[in-house]
Amino acid sequence: MIVFKTSAELRNYIDSQRNLGRSIGFIPTMGALHKGHISLINSARQSQKLTICSIFVNPAQFNDKQDFDKYPHAIADDIVLLSAAGCDVLFLPTLQEIYPNGPENAQEYHFGFLETVFEGAQRPGHFNGVGKVVAILLNMVQPDALYMGSKDYQQCAVVKNLCKQMGLADKIEFVACPTQREADGLAMSSRNRRLNEPQRALAAIIYQCLVSIQSKSILNSPFAIVAKECADLMKAKKIEPEYIAIADADSLEPLSEFDPNKKMVALIAAKVGNVRLIDNMIIN
Ligand code: PAJ
Repeated sequence: MIVFKTSAELRNYIDSQRNLGRSIGFIPTMGALHKGHISLINSARQSQKLTICSIFVNPAQFNDKQDFDKYPHAIADDIVLLSAAGCDVLFLPTLQEIYPNGPENAQEYHFGFLETVFEGAQRPGHFNGVGKVVAILLNMVQPDALYMGSKDYQQCAVVKNLCKQMGLADKIEFVACPTQREADGLAMSSRNRRLNEPQRALAAIIYQCLVSIQSKSILNSPFAIVAKECADLMKAKKIEPEYIAIADADSLEPLSEFDPNKKMVALIAAKVGNVRLIDNMIIN
């Protein structure tokens, strides 16, 4: 695996590979990699793409400074994992490389309604920060395909919207990859490393609640009651729910009741100790 720290070197290499007829698959990450990230690398490799992963902990998308400060870094381990997975290129830019004029002066993107619900509502400015960095990375890498995880369901919707705004929707194939889970169902996340042992043991309740919402949707139970049951279950284990919701899976319009005529997604955000976790599940 080749590691590039500047976009100039990266571009040179990508151009040389394009001249050889290779197409480019891109996986943007913030590092502290796990099998969820690696599943995205595998998807790109399976489609014979030159596989480029970036690691950059993007300050612009952290609305909580403490969360940014505590974000795990594990670059040596990440390089071992990526090499073993057969990733071709790691792009490891500095802050200066991504934001030469500072994050606050980078081009802003807005996502309308998508910014106002769920993660957008809980983390003001978060998706604008994601938009900034993904736009910069897409301009640098100019991939043919972009691989992102359904674990961050709303982020997928935001980045698809970003590609449209940038006029890239026809040029870049957006590949939403399935959420990878631990044996007990907990969605893999770099943040899971910050859970202590008892917290880790309890965190799978988030997944169990999603499964329960899915089964109650088949019975068409009143959603308010289902959501309250889930909230009570979490609180009993000292897990603090931020939202437990269902939405139209395409528009992310929140739904107050199950609607079998729509494709629906259930979404949960909750705090386990001071670690904020999110998960979701398509329920029909
Ligand atoms: P990060 O949290 O590192 O995630 C990088 C990619 O891995 C995202 O597309 C995310 O959805 C995917 N991913 C994370 N956990 C996963 C899991 N358990 N199963 C499948 N895919 C998973 O998301 C970001 O970084 C940043 O916001 C970024 C897009 C890089 C912009 O800074």
